[in-house]
Amino acid sequence: METIFEIRCGQAAYPVLFGSDAGEALARVWRPAWRQGIIIADSHTAALFSDRIAIAIGAMVRCCIQLQFKAGERSKTRTTKAKLEDAMLAARGDRDACIVAVGGGVVLDMAGFVAATYMRGIAHINVPTTLLAQVDAAIGGKTGVNTGAGKNLIGAFHQPQAVIVDPSTLRTLPPSEIRSGLAEMVKHAVVADAGLFRGLEVWAATGERIPATDLISRSIMIKARTVAEDERDGGMRQILNFGHTAGHAIEKATSHRVRHGDAVAAGMMVEAAVAHRFAGFPETALSRLRQLLATLGLPIRPQCAFDDALGSMLLDKKRTGDEIRCALPSEIGAVRRDGDGWTVAVPPELMRSCWEDLRR
Ligand SMILES: NC(=O)c1ccc[n+]([C@@H]2O[C@H](COP(=O)([O-])OP(=O)(O)OC[C@H]3O[C@@H](n4cnc5c(N)ncnc54)[C@H](O)[C@@H]3O)[C@@H](O)[C@H]2O)c1
Repeated sequence: METIFEIRCGQAAYPVLFGSDAGEALARVWRPAWRQGIIIADSHTAALFSDRIAIAIGAMVRCCIQLQFKAGERSKTRTTKAKLEDAMLAARGDRDACIVAVGGGVVLDMAGFVAATYMRGIAHINVPTTLLAQVDAAIGGKTGVNTGAGKNLIGAFHQPQAVIVDPSTLRTLPPSEIRSGLAEMVKHAVVADAGLFRGLEVWAATGERIPATDLISRSIMIKARTVAEDERDGGMRQILNFGHTAGHAIEKATSHRVRHGDAVAAGMMVEAAVAHRFAGFPETALSRLRQLLATLGLPIRPQCAFDDALGSMLLDKKRTGDEIRCALPSEIGAVRRDGDGWTVAVPPELMRSCWEDLRR
């Protein structure tokens, strides 16, 4: 495994390791002070990976326990967190424990939040096994759970000690989950890396199922660089919201029947069309984005009417004043800056016109 990025966030610094031997990488980053290993996975990733992780850390710890919860977003709750914590207390988990989170974004968000609060904070390592988690959720230290009032409303910033990415874990991932990670990779390319965008265009034309490893690592670097600049999500990290103002609104308006990646893809088309009219995003860039999303099997039309989505965009947490705020690209690989900020106030009528044009 190769260290492709060393993230420095305030006091914390941690490596992102990328390659094909997670066991060797764990041995490299494991600290002698971590006397206990706690592997947290979901019901799918436990069966696929937990034993291998346990073997890798077995010789370095005095004991190792494996915990799991039912796979799926519905498990990302305070109840699941309490069950994991109770199991750790029963196993006499102490401050010298290190959690190894093995799974997609749900496992990483959950295990990271457990690590943030257990004994007032213990170490954790992220081993992401979905494309979305590898290029996005594993990096940046955001952890948390959902409640009836909304997604990710209870949580903490808690940086991992290391992120270990093995793209070969993606071989067992269902196509719908690959698509959801691809949407975030396209987003990274549009906001920060024209070369990655070209690479994705070339790769998409091959019809292969899993993106080339250099495209995955390039996408990881964009997330890593962005969070290193803006640990607490107050500034530059907002560029990663491209496609998400409209995307989140589509998810809510359809009661989450439209999956996150599909909503973000359509959201990117809406916001790119707005950027075309409002931020100088060229027509050629807009049509390349449409073509790339379509080739990847991602939606290019909003899945609900603008009026059904408007309410939640006006309630969006990025909103200030009465406008809808979006991160808008000025070209492929760059976002338009608005004074000190990275989001732009978009008049609702302009977005309505772009949105409904795409639905025609
Ligand atoms: N913390 C962050 O910065 C951040 C960023 C983006 C998303 N998220 C969160 O991530 C979550 C979504 O993550 P996700 O898309 O990875 O979903 P997920 O964690 O639910 O994983 C999707 C499915 O794939 C299965 N799976 C995981 N790895 C597998 C593998 N290698 N082979 C076969 N099956 C596998 C899982 O068990 C699950 O059924 C959301 O809760 C979202 O809020 C967090």
